[in-house]
Amino acid sequence: MIMTPATAVPKLLLFLTAAFQGEAFGGIKRSGREWSEQAAGVAVEAERAVKMVRQVMKGPARDRTLTFSLDTTLPATVRDAISSLSQFQSPVTDSLHVALFFNLSHQTINLGSVTHPPRHLLLVSLRSGHDVTSLLTQPWLSGVQSLALVTPVSGSLATYTLLPFCSPSLHYLGHWSPHTFTTWESLFPDRFLNTCHTVFHVALKLEDPPYFYRRRLHSQPVGVSVNILRALSTKLNFSYDVTEDSLDGTWGVLEGGEWSGLLGMVNRGEYNFTGNGFIKSWERREAFDFGEPIYQDKVSVFLKKPVSVQAWMDLVRPFSVGVWAALLVALLLSSAFFTLQARVQRSNMSVTSLYLVRVLLSQSTPPSGQPRSRLLVSVWLLVCLIITSAFTSNLVGIFTTNTFPAPITSLSQLAAQTTIRLTTPDYGSFTSNRMKRAEDDVSLRRFQGRIDLFPLQCEAVAGMTAGTHGFVEVATHTMIMLTTKYKKRNWYRVKEAFLTVEMSWVYKKGTAWKTKLDENIKWLKYTGVIEQWYKMELQHLDVGKKRQGRGKGVNDDPDTTGGRGRPLTTSHLQGLFFLLGLAWVFSIVVFLLEKTHEKMCCSFCPIGSVPPPFHLTPDSLTPPS
Ligand SMILES: *[C@@H]1O[C@H](CO)[C@@H](O)[C@H](O)[C@H]1NC(C)=O
Ligand SMILES: *[C@@H]1O[C@H](CO)[C@@H](O)[C@H](O)[C@H]1NC(C)=O
Ligand SMILES: *[C@@H]1O[C@H](CO)[C@@H](O)[C@H](O)[C@H]1NC(C)=O
Repeated sequence: MIMTPATAVPKLLLFLTAAFQGEAFGGIKRSGREWSEQAAGVAVEAERAVKMVRQVMKGPARDRTLTFSLDTTLPATVRDAISSLSQFQSPVTDSLHVALFFNLSHQTINLGSVTHPPRHLLLVSLRSGHDVTSLLTQPWLSGVQSLALVTPVSGSLATYTLLPFCSPSLHYLGHWSPHTFTTWESLFPDRFLNTCHTVFHVALKLEDPPYFYRRRLHSQPVGVSVNILRALSTKLNFSYDVTEDSLDGTWGVLEGGEWSGLLGMVNRGEYNFTGNGFIKSWERREAFDFGEPIYQDKVSVFLKKPVSVQAWMDLVRPFSVGVWAALLVALLLSSAFFTLQARVQRSNMSVTSLYLVRVLLSQSTPPSGQPRSRLLVSVWLLVCLIITSAFTSNLVGIFTTNTFPAPITSLSQLAAQTTIRLTTPDYGSFTSNRMKRAEDDVSLRRFQGRIDLFPLQCEAVAGMTAGTHGFVEVATHTMIMLTTKYKKRNWYRVKEAFLTVEMSWVYKKGTAWKTKLDENIKWLKYTGVIEQWYKMELQHLDVGKKRQGRGKGVNDDPDTTGGRGRPLTTSHLQGLFFLLGLAWVFSIVVFLLEKTHEKMCCSFCPIGSVPPPFHLTPDSLTPPS
């Protein structure tokens, strides 16, 4: 129940006094002398406790909301009356929870659970004679961050807290006095400041570059996680030991109420936290505490890089089919007009066409004898100038960029095609879990029925390299793995990602001391140290660098790499050689035909009807007088 400080205490005080003076205890009082004596004692203690709480509200907790809990072993009438005073039921974050009790146990006092303990808790005992250590070391209190106990000891109130890392862990703060406890920090000192050289057991799994991996087969594991652990242990004076794999080799999923893999080891309390980054999912958040996010990443799809367009097509590609067709029509029409004009010259269509094509191929034309046709020729020259310049510029453009069939850049494009299915290895990762339940997932639903999970990573990668599957996983990890482990280069990442995720270390639910690590991880993050470590690991792994010969849109990481200049090779000129080959074949055929059917040749080229053969000699360029 929650009461504002202004109203709560006077009401509580009034009520407790009234209750202990006989009204609420009426039923019990009648049952025996002993009880009434105890009740009277309790009333005195209660009065003193409430006075103390009032001082706490004026002193250490002056700018906080207070939430009260009462022992259920208090007579029902007392509790009913208190709950009728409460107006709100939801706890306020960062409020100070005050619990008044005779006997403190999880059952008798409603303080939330191990999974949702109050953050700041002031325990006020209404009787003396508690075993203070066993009282404070109850497991369900382990998630409380700021903890203090006030208990009557020989006529006055003593104040204790628990330092969980040290031994002996009970810490006496002094006798209660509003003058000694004036600030929040004096009543609730940082219980985790001194780790007293605790040894943390860190659950880590190898093959998680750049976080935790081996550079060579038997070398020491390295990575961003190792660096962070080392920095934290120096700063906070703890030591740690690590594992290198989970018992079953998986990351951990919830199966039949039990967590498997790395997460299971933390959940069962065998290890204190994971040093690998985990992504928050719904059921993970229910079962674990997540630390400060260490890095942001994306869950992306990786596809086989499309085979580049055949280079011999390069000569055709400057113009679209429409332009080529229009050009052909223009040539035919011009030829027709020319032929009409040149009729007197006994010229024919094939000859005029050849005459016009010369300009297109950047050859000069022999002078036309017809003054009237000069107008047409000059227009045709202008057309040819534009067409040849456009063709040349586009060809240059094509030679300087590597071109591929348009890569898939968005998830809707991927969903629209039907040949590529999605895959991920089924090792209990966040992604595989999500893909198993694609029907619940907005972005994955459209791929339903097109998802295959392979038991092994290499099978999923093989699906990707065969072009049948898109590999879905956390991007950084996959990029590194494809480059270093599988030595694959022919892949690209679809620009639109499924989702952006944050990787955090994972702690057992109700781990209060994680805030200590979080503070320092936050500090490392804000000062850019983690980012720098991350970059250094990537550099070491030779990932994310610009590489030669990669075109825009199709490379390891479209965000970071771009096209870069590259020299032309003979393969780029395939188109020319292709044409040359065709020309040779054609000329050989013509040669053979000429040799065998001389008459046929004559019908091809009526001698005398054509302008004289063209030679690249200076005088052919001068117009005839
Ligand atoms: C509180 O604990 C004491 C000692 O353990 C016990 O004698 C007493 O019965 C308990 N009172 C209640 C109300 O549970
Ligand atoms: C860590 O230990 C050293 C020496 O044992 C001590 O001087 C230092 O204050 C400790 N630091 C913390 C944060 O406890
Ligand atoms: C760490 O885990 C071990 C069990 O492996 C446990 O005994 C210990 O109390 C844990 N340490 C902390 C600070 O929770």
